[in-house]
Amino acid sequence: MGCLGWKYQLFCLLVLLSLLFHLPSSFSSSLSSISPCSALLHFNHSLSLDQSASPSFYTYRIQMCDNSYPKTASWKEDKDCCSWDGVVCDQTTRHVIGLDLSCSWLSGPIHSNSTLFFLPHLRTLNLAGNCFESLISSEFGNFKTLTHLNLSYSCFSGKIPNEISHLSSLVSLDLSLNDGLLIETPVWKRVIHNLTQLRELLLDWSDMSSIRPNSLMNLSSSFTTISLHGCNLQGKLQNNFRCLPNIQTLDLGENWNLDLGSLPKCNWSSISLKFLDVSSISFSRKLPDFIGNMKSLKHLNLANCNLTGSISTSLGNLVKLTILDLSYNSFSGLLPLSLFNLLNLSSLYLDNNQLVGHLPNQVSGLLNLKDLYLSSNFLKGTLPSWLFNLPSLVTLNLDGNQFIGEIGEFKSNSLEHLDLGYNKLQGSIPRSISRFVNLTYLSLSSNNWSVMLELEMFSKLKNLEFLDFSNNLVSINNNVTYTLPNLQQLNLSSCNISEFPIFLRTTTTLKFLDLSKNRIYGQVPRWLGDVGRDSLYFLDLRGNLLQGPFPTLSLLSLQYLFVSNNKLTGEIPSLICNESSLVVLDLSHNNLSGVVPKCLLHSNVLLVLDLRMNSLRGTIPATFAKRNNFRIINLNGNQLEGPLPQSLANCRTPFFAKLVGIVAVEVIGSRLLPPMFQNILVTAVLLNRLRPLRLTQSLIIEKF
Ligand SMILES: *[C@@H]1O[C@H](CO)[C@@H](O)[C@H](O)[C@H]1NC(C)=O
Ligand SMILES: *[C@@H]1O[C@H](CO)[C@@H](O)[C@H](O)[C@H]1NC(C)=O
Ligand SMILES: *[C@@H]1O[C@H](CO)[C@@H](O)[C@H](O)[C@H]1NC(C)=O
Ligand SMILES: *[C@@H]1O[C@H](CO)[C@@H](O)[C@H](O)[C@H]1NC(C)=O
Ligand SMILES: *[C@@H]1O[C@H](CO)[C@@H](O)[C@H](O)[C@H]1NC(C)=O
Ligand SMILES: *[C@@H]1O[C@H](CO)[C@@H](O)[C@H](O)[C@H]1NC(C)=O
Ligand SMILES: *[C@@H]1O[C@H](CO)[C@@H](O)[C@H](O)[C@H]1NC(C)=O
Ligand SMILES: *[C@@H]1O[C@H](CO)[C@@H](O)[C@H](O)[C@H]1NC(C)=O
Ligand SMILES: *[C@@H]1O[C@H](CO)[C@@H](O)[C@H](O)[C@H]1NC(C)=O
Ligand SMILES: *[C@@H]1O[C@H](CO)[C@@H](O)[C@H](O)[C@H]1NC(C)=O
Ligand SMILES: *[C@@H]1O[C@H](CO)[C@@H](O)[C@H](O)[C@H]1NC(C)=O
Ligand SMILES: *[C@@H]1O[C@H](CO)[C@@H](O)[C@H](O)[C@H]1NC(C)=O
Repeated sequence: MGCLGWKYQLFCLLVLLSLLFHLPSSFSSSLSSISPCSALLHFNHSLSLDQSASPSFYTYRIQMCDNSYPKTASWKEDKDCCSWDGVVCDQTTRHVIGLDLSCSWLSGPIHSNSTLFFLPHLRTLNLAGNCFESLISSEFGNFKTLTHLNLSYSCFSGKIPNEISHLSSLVSLDLSLNDGLLIETPVWKRVIHNLTQLRELLLDWSDMSSIRPNSLMNLSSSFTTISLHGCNLQGKLQNNFRCLPNIQTLDLGENWNLDLGSLPKCNWSSISLKFLDVSSISFSRKLPDFIGNMKSLKHLNLANCNLTGSISTSLGNLVKLTILDLSYNSFSGLLPLSLFNLLNLSSLYLDNNQLVGHLPNQVSGLLNLKDLYLSSNFLKGTLPSWLFNLPSLVTLNLDGNQFIGEIGEFKSNSLEHLDLGYNKLQGSIPRSISRFVNLTYLSLSSNNWSVMLELEMFSKLKNLEFLDFSNNLVSINNNVTYTLPNLQQLNLSSCNISEFPIFLRTTTTLKFLDLSKNRIYGQVPRWLGDVGRDSLYFLDLRGNLLQGPFPTLSLLSLQYLFVSNNKLTGEIPSLICNESSLVVLDLSHNNLSGVVPKCLLHSNVLLVLDLRMNSLRGTIPATFAKRNNFRIINLNGNQLEGPLPQSLANCRTPFFAKLVGIVAVEVIGSRLLPPMFQNILVTAVLLNRLRPLRLTQSLIIEKF
């Protein structure tokens, strides 16, 4: 650390003195007479800058670090610190009264000796969206005049110190998003009883598992914001949550083991609640009627609350709603059409319920709708034209219903996510899809479309990452080539195609390819080996008419390889193990010959090895590694012989082996079973070709 001039040297001297003589706190507080500018300077020097300390973060309610930049980088030693970015001074006293270094790439610990604590006049302190990786120092409790403290999303850990409750002027306390910050009952009690000015308390994703939920009933009526999302609150609130007349934001979502009893019956028309999230917690089984009176609501999240009955049409009275999430409940009855007239709604989630009925033919609202999720219900009928005219639509999820008919052309180009899978739609896919330059996800799976995979349609979809046409009729035009430079997942399973789609040849990002259950014939083309050389980890070619030797594939990244039910011949190359990361290898039902490569059974990453119904010969290599991961080995239906290798005992339980076709019964039957074989579960087992012994039930090997 360089020399920072006389102020810094004086400061160092004082720190040194205080360390040497263990000065009493009354004296060390006189250290605070040190210039606030040098305190800030030193604080700046105790931290480093790292952009990854301030990644952007979004939820329904929070949008943080969207435009992060290092505020301290522009600080100049020769300028008055009151002019520095993020620093606010009192006009007359020149005291530093505000410090906002939120999302400023700050990285490094804040220990109790930090000079941050030599700013005794601070009223607002915001360090949110940095990464300090330290405890919250008890020194934070010494900011006597602090009204706003924001340490959210800053990699703080450990217990929240008692001293927090000394901040008696505190109006707003935000310690949220510090994954697992521990709040214990004594601190919690002091925070809610002693901090009488407190209006906003945000502790999302802290650990409050030891706090009794009944204490929530004692929250002061002056609170405007209470946010305890994902705090692991447990147990049942004995009496109802009380009415908090000034509450505007109440977030208790994702406290999976919390039972609220019921929502409080307040005079909701006099309370201006804007944000309510009680997702994934239980309260009354039915949607209370009075929800329709919460007319100030902008965000309502009741997802995954085990709610039943119908969705009250009174929700249509909540004209200010922008986000409504009722997904993952058991709502039945008709789709509530009143919701479709809400003008300001931008996200509507009704998916994963049991709603019936049709979409309305006409709507008067939804001009701002961005996300519409209706998937996994029992909705039927044709898709009305307004759906294709929504000007701001970004996500349309209608999969898993019973929609029929053809679909219209989209007017806007804004779609990024379109899922119409698992319906009964038919016809050809709308040409307008070709204009969706920002489309990343397209699934038309399992309908009755006929799709032509061709240039004109797809050449502009440069952002497409996920494409699923499975279970439709697809034809491929391999005469022209085009690229989908960002494609990661392609599912053309059960599409009745007979060729590998050549456009894949230039894809470098592919992770996941499913071409199973088609009529693809001939040899696997060499270029497939190069596709996604470092990215492809899942390849399914099951149930085709592939011939010839085992394909040359890059195995660097491949973890799941399925080529069963084809007509492959020749040997399994021993190269298959070189630099291989295979976890599942399924080559069953082919005509492979030769031996089982030793290296395969030596693997300590393979979980599933299925080579059944081939023409493999020889013995089972006795090469099981000491610490292997095998769960299923299936060698049934080959011409293997010889003893069952002792090293099989290296396989951990539960281990399911189908080892039919081996002369192993004699070995095992003639001796006492070695102890390490005990508990190994063998299903449909050990068939001696000479002495056929058919055991079709599962049995424990110990019983031999
Ligand atoms: C805390 O600061 C972050 C980042 O500036 C901000 O998004 C959040 O709203 C603040 N919390 C409160 C309670 O104001
Ligand atoms: C504050 O720290 C940043 C990064 O560590 C540095 O670029 C800047 O020059 C420092 N400001 C002063 C005034 O020392
Ligand atoms: C501050 O405290 C930390 C941890 O207690 C220690 O590692 C560091 O050297 C101290 N810094 C100064 C300047 O005393
Ligand atoms: C804070 O509350 C505790 C009890 O929770 C009490 O013993 C203590 O005196 C209170 N402190 C102040 C400063 O009010
Ligand atoms: C609520 O506060 C009162 C005192 O203010 C206390 O007696 C009672 O035990 C508290 N209830 C809960 C559930 O914490
Ligand atoms: C509810 O509040 C509204 C608005 O403040 C008021 O007009 C109405 O009388 C109240 N209703 C009851 C039952 O208190
Ligand atoms: C949902 O409610 C039903 C009926 O009351 C109950 O049996 C079930 O356990 C609940 N499920 C959850 C996840 O709470
Ligand atoms: C809808 O949003 C607009 C723009 O944000 C706002 O001016 C208007 O008041 C909102 N309408 C309602 C009913 O809240
Ligand atoms: C595509 O996304 C970009 C960047 O978010 C945006 O500026 C552009 O308007 C979008 N295009 C369409 C057609 O929505
Ligand atoms: C699929 O669509 C064709 C017409 O394109 C129709 O003849 C056929 O009946 C449809 N099949 C099913 C299962 O709906
Ligand atoms: C591809 O689509 C088929 C049919 O919809 C589905 O069964 C299969 O699971 C999908 N592939 C993968 C690996 O998700
Ligand atoms: C591809 O080219 C061949 C030969 O030129 C032609 O017979 C075939 O019809 C073309 N296929 C398509 C789909 O255009």
